[in-house]
Amino acid sequence: MQDAIGVFDSGMGGLTVLRALRLRLPATNFVYLGDTARLPYGTKSPATVVKYAEQAAKTLVDRGVRAIVVACNTASGIALEKLQSHFAPLPVFGVVAPGAQAACEVMDGSGVLVLATESTVGWGAYQRAISKRRSDAKIFARACPLWVAVAEQGIAAGDLAEVVIGHDLRGFEFTGPRTLLLGCTHFPVFSEMLRRRLPNHQIVDSAETTARVVASVLEAQLQVEGTANLRGQVKFLATDGVARFKRVGGFFLGESIDEVELIDL
Ligand code: DGL
Repeated sequence: MQDAIGVFDSGMGGLTVLRALRLRLPATNFVYLGDTARLPYGTKSPATVVKYAEQAAKTLVDRGVRAIVVACNTASGIALEKLQSHFAPLPVFGVVAPGAQAACEVMDGSGVLVLATESTVGWGAYQRAISKRRSDAKIFARACPLWVAVAEQGIAAGDLAEVVIGHDLRGFEFTGPRTLLLGCTHFPVFSEMLRRRLPNHQIVDSAETTARVVASVLEAQLQVEGTANLRGQVKFLATDGVARFKRVGGFFLGESIDEVELIDL
């Protein structure tokens, strides 16, 4: 696919980032790779996440993409710098810095609660990125691995989701930080529920802010394409479960997915 931007994630959750990118860059072509055979990355060691991320990025580079977006927060937090130096001069974007920046812009003195996978929380990438921008920020973090499992079932509302989310927000719903940073690809599907539960909180997700950064950096090329007034195409690649990808992927992307190519990394 010509002049596409490559996007990868451990699975389908990164389709929330692709959705934001498509809204901002409607004429652009994308290749999306979901490493569904090896999801979750969020419970793996840093060495394994780096290895998987390098394999995913290499596959996209071999497909001729002109830039890569690491939609997976876990891979962004742990492997971004390695990918940037490995694949230079190809632009490689992550989701952590844009998400941290957006949180810092809206956060008040009560601080921020980072909600993410175990690896992202343990590695501390968001905590470092926020402290770098706001050294006085009160930063809290909580690993929410069950949210990934619930979202992977295509569930964004209802009793099960309420119980899981309520469980992981315990101690934070009525006191503590009034900004929530959704530091995982899967979590934007719960935005509506979170807004309802916490109407006075700021809820920041890194998908939209990443799309803004990608669009502004690639602006010159993309403006030229934008004038063509065409709808960009998306090629979907997955390492397992293509039927499931087609069935559940639309829940994350907000549009139906008709064709997914099965690949090996
Ligand atoms: N894509 C991952 C992330 O954003 C969540 C799913 C996983 O654990 O692989 O951190």
